[in-house]
Formats: sequence, structure tokens, C-alpha cells
Amino acid sequence: MQAVAIRRGETAPTVVEKPRPEPEPGEVLVRTLRVGVDGTDEEVIEGSHGGLPPGEDHLVLGHEAVGVVADANDTAFEPGDVVVPTVRRPPAEGPNEYFERGEPDMAPPDACVERGIDGAHGFMAEYFTSPAEYLVSVPESYAEWGFLVEPISISEKAIDHAEASRSAFDWDPDSGLVLGNGSLGLLTLAMLDARGYDRTYCLGRRDRPDPTIDIIEELGAIYIDSRATPVPEIPDAHEPMDFVYEATGYAKHAFETIEALAPGGVGALLGVPEPWEFEIDGGTVHKEFVMNNKALVGSVNSNHRHFAAAVETLGSLPEWFLDALVTGVYDLDSYEAAFADDDETAIKAAVQFAQI
Ligand code: NAP
Ligand code: BGC
Ligand code: ZN
Repeated sequence: MQAVAIRRGETAPTVVEKPRPEPEPGEVLVRTLRVGVDGTDEEVIEGSHGGLPPGEDHLVLGHEAVGVVADANDTAFEPGDVVVPTVRRPPAEGPNEYFERGEPDMAPPDACVERGIDGAHGFMAEYFTSPAEYLVSVPESYAEWGFLVEPISISEKAIDHAEASRSAFDWDPDSGLVLGNGSLGLLTLAMLDARGYDRTYCLGRRDRPDPTIDIIEELGAIYIDSRATPVPEIPDAHEPMDFVYEATGYAKHAFETIEALAPGGVGALLGVPEPWEFEIDGGTVHKEFVMNNKALVGSVNSNHRHFAAAVETLGSLPEWFLDALVTGVYDLDSYEAAFADDDETAIKAAVQFAQI
């Protein structure tokens, strides 16, 4: 079968030929339908995040997949079921408390591997196998959008943790700010909208006309250009925010988020930046946290529960939004287009392995 992989030392993905995997007992064979591409894939390809499986010279890419069960292999699944795989798997060695309690998303990086990202092959192949416990059922009617379940699940977790950090008092957020107008940022903006935030904002650094700004405004949110209004100026230019969701990977935003928050507000940090040294006024940041009861939560990955919630959320997102967000679905013979980074009109792309 064919798979899209990044080879050691190379800077662009390539198609490789691999044997079709055989499911072990307890595993399901899945025929891949579509696999999405996000900012993390770009980081993996450029070599700033993740790594190859031990002893291998390539990594099969792809962690946002949807497929159809081809061989249920005596599990509870049936051939033809539409499924989405979770990303994390236990590393080869020893017992693992995070996986045992169903919270692989809480494992530190050395206590897990991530398929398609770090230490394990991904799903960007004609077929993949997975233990049944790491597959989540998706209604057949959502199959074409199923590759969005994984990124939505990322925000289900982050919002869940942010809300939990405010659960000790009567927190009723009205204003929500998303930093970043990439695919994760826009999906999250749509989720905040659906969660009943009265006023939503999204930060980018693009000139109009731009399709992401069109989506932001169609969602009823306000576009903020970080070149004109840097994050610390947002409270004066607009209003202090009850919730901030950082999805830029721009490291200064972690600290600037504290200034953008309203008293009692919470920021969720999602970006995975490279090392970058810069100066901050630590005293002011520390005092601001304390005197205004603010919180920041870091959040990575998601577990089965967040995937199940994401399936529900996917079903509630408007069709126009999904159509506008997914700007390209490419067959394997033009897979390069899904990774092209020179097209400002591209938002979310996927590689299609089989017709839906
Ligand atoms: P993406 O497509 O690269 O989106 C990032 C967006 O942020 C881009 O649209 C970029 O604008 C914008 N941006 C960057 N710096 C900015 C600045 N200073 N001011 C305004 N806008 C700025 O990536 P993504 O897939 O949406 O993911 C977003 C981030 O979350 C990445 O860092 C990714 O690694 C991370 N992530 C984390 C998790 C997790 O589990 N924690 C999961 C998925 C993704 P331009 O396009 O105009 O440059
Ligand atoms: C993936 C997560 C993963 C994270 C860090 C994200 O793009 O969606 O599943 O845990 O990157 O590698
Ligand atoms: Zn991702």
C-alpha cells in the first residue's frame, strides 16, 4: 500500500510503498478515507517537533484521520463502521498509569508516543491498524468531515480544563478571544460561538481580503490584527477577556494573555513554540495573576472522552463553516498540495485515500 511519509533528513513528504498492516488480536484494520493536515504536521516536517519511530528511517505522517473498518477482527466493531483513531499510544516499555486510567493526554512526552508525530507511524496510508480501544465511532453521515474530530477534541479538552480551573467560583464568561486564525483557532472560534459566548474575537496578522477574516466575521466575531492591536492593548481597544485561547504558537502570547484577561479570567495555551528568549516584566505578571485571580492552563492532546464530545460538536457546526474551513481535499496523486505553505487562501487541507 501507499503512504505519505517524511524521510530522515528530508524537508518535504514523499509517497512510500509499505506492506498492508495485519491486525493483531484486539486490533482493527481500517481503510483510510481522509487525513487532515495541521500546523503540527508542518513542525514535524521541518524537524522542530516530534521524531521518527526508533530504528526507522521515515515517519508515516498524519494524526487527524477518519476511516472505515475493513476487518473488525473479532472486536465490537463491524465492517463498514466509520471510525476516528486517537493519537497517543503507550511506549513499548512497562506499565503506564496514564493509559491505564484512560488519560493518555495527561502523559508527559516520555510516557507516550504520538502516531504521525512522535515515535510511531501515523495514519496517512491506505490502511492502518489500531487497538479497538483507541477508535471512536462516527456517524456515517459525518464521514467526509470526520478528520476534524481530532482537532475539535483538542479544544474540547482545553476548554474543559480551563472551565475546571474556574469551577470553584461562579464563573459565567461572556467574552472569548482566540489568538490565531489557523485551522485550530477557527474551529475553536466556532466552538465558542456554539457554547453561547456573547462576544467573540479572533487575532490574526493578515490584510483583507482574506478568507479567514471572512469566516471570523461570518461567525459574528471581531477580527483583531495583531500588527495594529498587540495582545496587551486588547483590553483598552475592545474589552478584557473572560477566556483566551492561544493557538498561534507565538511564545510572547503566553505572557501577553495574562494582560488580556479580565479579573477571574482564564487562558488556555495550545501553541508548541521553539525556544525563544525575550524579556518580560515578571513582577507585573506575577502580581496580575495574584491580585486578579487569573489562571493559565497548558493543554496538549485529548482522550477518548474528548473525542466523543468532538463527534457531537462536529454535528452541531454549520455546513457553511465546514465548507469554508476545508479549502482543499486532495487525492494521493496530488498530496503535495495538502502541504503547500505558499497559498494564503488555504486554511485546512486533507489527503483523500478512498471515496466516501
Ligand atoms: P497554524 O495553521 O500554523 O495557525 C497558526 C496561526 O496563528 C496562523 O494563522 C498565523 O498567522 C497565526 N499567528 C502566528 N503568530 C501570530 C501573531 N504574532 N499574531 C497574529 N497571528 C499569528 O497552526 P494550527 O494547526 O492552527 O495550530 C495552532 C498552534 O497550536 C500551533 O502552534 C500548533 O503546534 C498548536 N497545536 C497544539 C495542539 C495541542 O494539543 N496543544 C494541537 C494542535 C495544534 P499566519 O498564517 O498569517 O502566519
Ligand atoms: C495533535 C495532538 C498532539 C500535539 C502535540 C497536535 O497537533 O493534534 O494530538 O498531542 O500536536 O504533539
Ligand atoms: Zn494536530
